[in-house]
Amino acid sequence: STLPYRDATLPVERRVQDLLSRMTLQEKVGQMTQIDTARLMGRDEWDRGPLNPEWMKRVLADQHVGSLLSGGGVAPIPNTPSAWAEMTNTLQRFALEHSRLGIPILYGADAVHGHNNVVGAPIFPHNLGLAATFDPSLVESIGVVTANALRATGVTWNFAPDADLGVDPRWGRFYETWGDLPELAAAMVAASVRGQQGDFGPQNVATTLKHFVGYGAPQGGKDRADAIIADADLRSSHLPPFEAGLKAGALSVMVNSGSVNGVPAHASAALLTKLLRQDLGFTGVTISDWEDVKKLQTVHKVAASYRDAVKMALTAGVDVSMVPHDAEGFTSLVLDLVKSGDVPQARIDEAAGRVLAMKFRLGLFERPYVDASGAAAAVGAGRDLAAKAARASITLLANDGVLPLGRSGRRVLIVGERARDPRSQLGGWTIGWQGMPANEDTPSVTVLDGMKATLPKGAALAFSNDVPSAPNADVIVVVVGEPPHAEGDADNPTLGLPSSDVDLLRSAVRSGKKVVAVLLSGRPVVLPDDVRTKLSGLVMAYLPGSEGGRAIADVLYGNTNPSGRLPFTWPSGAARSGAMYSLGFGLSYTTFTES
Ligand code: GLC
Repeated sequence: STLPYRDATLPVERRVQDLLSRMTLQEKVGQMTQIDTARLMGRDEWDRGPLNPEWMKRVLADQHVGSLLSGGGVAPIPNTPSAWAEMTNTLQRFALEHSRLGIPILYGADAVHGHNNVVGAPIFPHNLGLAATFDPSLVESIGVVTANALRATGVTWNFAPDADLGVDPRWGRFYETWGDLPELAAAMVAASVRGQQGDFGPQNVATTLKHFVGYGAPQGGKDRADAIIADADLRSSHLPPFEAGLKAGALSVMVNSGSVNGVPAHASAALLTKLLRQDLGFTGVTISDWEDVKKLQTVHKVAASYRDAVKMALTAGVDVSMVPHDAEGFTSLVLDLVKSGDVPQARIDEAAGRVLAMKFRLGLFERPYVDASGAAAAVGAGRDLAAKAARASITLLANDGVLPLGRSGRRVLIVGERARDPRSQLGGWTIGWQGMPANEDTPSVTVLDGMKATLPKGAALAFSNDVPSAPNADVIVVVVGEPPHAEGDADNPTLGLPSSDVDLLRSAVRSGKKVVAVLLSGRPVVLPDDVRTKLSGLVMAYLPGSEGGRAIADVLYGNTNPSGRLPFTWPSGAARSGAMYSLGFGLSYTTFTES
């Protein structure tokens, strides 16, 4: 007869209790441990390579680790959809063959704008641009496509959607937020959760609301700095996106790496137990962020030892530690804490039980493997949706009539390296954590490609990576922006553009020609007045993804009527005292005839 935990007709809670009753303490602690796949490749930091059987044994067999992740950019060689599917199948098979009770592993990744770690996947606009569409149904569709691509490669746990409120554009992760309107962020987060989790079928994944809570308001806009947030503000502004995500049934929550009012979130029972569990009623898995249990000792310095840090985190309410490398170090301390009575056995059962519930809900016991032959098609799907989302996101901020570029034989000069290198339109979290690496390109349509493809007959187009002395053109389109970055590396305290980008703009406006600036940035940037006031057109394209170049061209040539609206207040200076453009602002073409 079938053991209860193997009986998919039984309620999840019944299966969890039965399985827990059969597990050893070590097996339960393994479920609370998440290791980065680079470790199983024999590397102790970010890297790629073949899987290493010795490390697979140490992590999956000896430590019974219950979930793995690919940190930003950790991928198989070659980085193809089928290689991803083969890698996760290999890891799953090894785990199941070495699990006494046949417990499958979860595999996590950051698919924050499409299945962005895999070469060949369409890259969607980052959340900030999607927010500018004000269209939750679009975000839900993107969730469906992304989950299908993830699951087809054996990734079952997505560390998305971000639910942080974007209150400070200086912050490096502003582009991962939906801006600073709580109601908009709430609607988008819920839509993404619905799209990705669906009915927990074979094309769905678990979602993660991150990073609980208040991570978007670090002092000075400096990533992971302390956030001073009054309780009323926390509840009215920062919580709504999380509440909406929980209501939509998100299976997991990732904890804020920073601190709130001086208390590290990973050590805060007030946040992780009282607020998240008792007030908000969350019953899923709370996972730490990258190495953030140990950072209670080494960064926040609120724990005198790693053992104290583990005790603090488990007691506060962390269920799974994203260790992410030293499995033995974490598991041995948890076992010691339980044996010494510092952490009750019940806490282990609660945490491990939540992980098992997630695995049962996802159908992992019934469907632990993927069919590698279907991976390429699933990962490659959605390119048209990515183009549609990019078009809908683009926000027109200024236009003296120069746009749309006429159907008349207007001579257009495109200026700037960012017009032909897609890295700025892709942004961070693309193939590599900090953006697309120099030696690994995923198919993209640059602005120049897009302009060439949309060029109306009779119009002329030329490219130059700087402004020639006497430009032979009626209009100069300057493509500027920020280099691709992620997290702290993307902090920008001045809200300025790189000086080389400002110089391009200045040269262009000094040429006496009409100038249109196209911004590829994950935040509102402050342009010098002598430049901004001389522009004939200003287009905010955010980080529009692999199809962004075509979308920008469609707006510039008028094939698409710009409909994006700012999901944040555009400050007039880094001090963020005045507003250059208000939340919700965006122009459309008045006289518009569909092409
Ligand atoms: C990163 C990010 C988090 C991500 C995790 C795994 O540092 O803070 O958003 O999910 O680590 O890549």
